[in-house]
Amino acid sequence: MDKVIVIGGSGLIGKALCKVLAEECFEVIGMSRTQYSPEIDQYVSDWIYEDVATSEGTGLILEKCSNADSVSLVFCCGNHGHDASIANQIGTYQTNLVGISRIWEMTRSNPSLNINCIIICSSLMGSLPDRHFPFYAASKAGLDHFIRSIRNDQLQIPICSIVLGPVGSTNARGMTPPDKVAKYISGFIKKPYSGEAYLPRYLKVLIPSIRVMPNFWERILVGFRKRRN
Ligand SMILES: NC(=O)c1ccc[n+]([C@@H]2O[C@H](COP(=O)([O-])OP(=O)(O)OC[C@H]3O[C@@H](n4cnc5c(N)ncnc54)[C@H](OP(=O)(O)O)[C@@H]3O)[C@@H](O)[C@H]2O)c1
Repeated sequence: MDKVIVIGGSGLIGKALCKVLAEECFEVIGMSRTQYSPEIDQYVSDWIYEDVATSEGTGLILEKCSNADSVSLVFCCGNHGHDASIANQIGTYQTNLVGISRIWEMTRSNPSLNINCIIICSSLMGSLPDRHFPFYAASKAGLDHFIRSIRNDQLQIPICSIVLGPVGSTNARGMTPPDKVAKYISGFIKKPYSGEAYLPRYLKVLIPSIRVMPNFWERILVGFRKRRN
């Protein structure tokens, strides 16, 4: 059975992903630093309790990857930070930047692993400056840049970053439901792709435009937020 390690498996997207993958007959291993909710117990075969940004964390991932015929890694763990403290915000850097660097190092130094693909949950905020979440925005921008730098040339494994807009409950306007994100991700596990993908699809047009004219889009965003408040 093909294995998938969902790094951040107890989160909003991670939980939905564990469920979708289990229903599609993948063997699912979750990862988080703290206890996951019992509602996903039935979907996972194993759990890694560790920080992905530590050598212990990637050591445990490596253990689960060894001897697998096919294993996919989904990096869906770097979030806004649960509180505004500086320690927590710096933790966002660690998860996004150190975490992915360690995964890269692990795969690079173990070429015999049968890695099917690596999928990264990226964010619109990696391209759009955000004064409310500057650490998050900067860490996602760094993550995107890192992935673009290692893709194809240095890592002979399909690596797909999925740039996501806001994800949330089906009732909220402008939000993509987590199960839709999960199904989108599972599509890339079944058909690995190296490059950037977008959800919702309009980001495919918006993101390149933001990268070319960040100041213009920042002004639009600030105006939009003022009108909304
Ligand atoms: N939700 C959105 O609107 C949205 C939009 C765009 C992009 N994204 C991206 O999608 C991904 C998932 O978002 P989400 O909303 O599902 O986040 P979430 O609900 O906050 O879940 C984050 C998950 O990652 C785990 N985690 C965090 N840091 C970790 C670390 N250092 N090592 C191991 N596990 C860690 C958390 O568990 P512990 O805290 O117990 O470790 C939790 O399971 C993130 O990369 C986020 O940037 C989300």
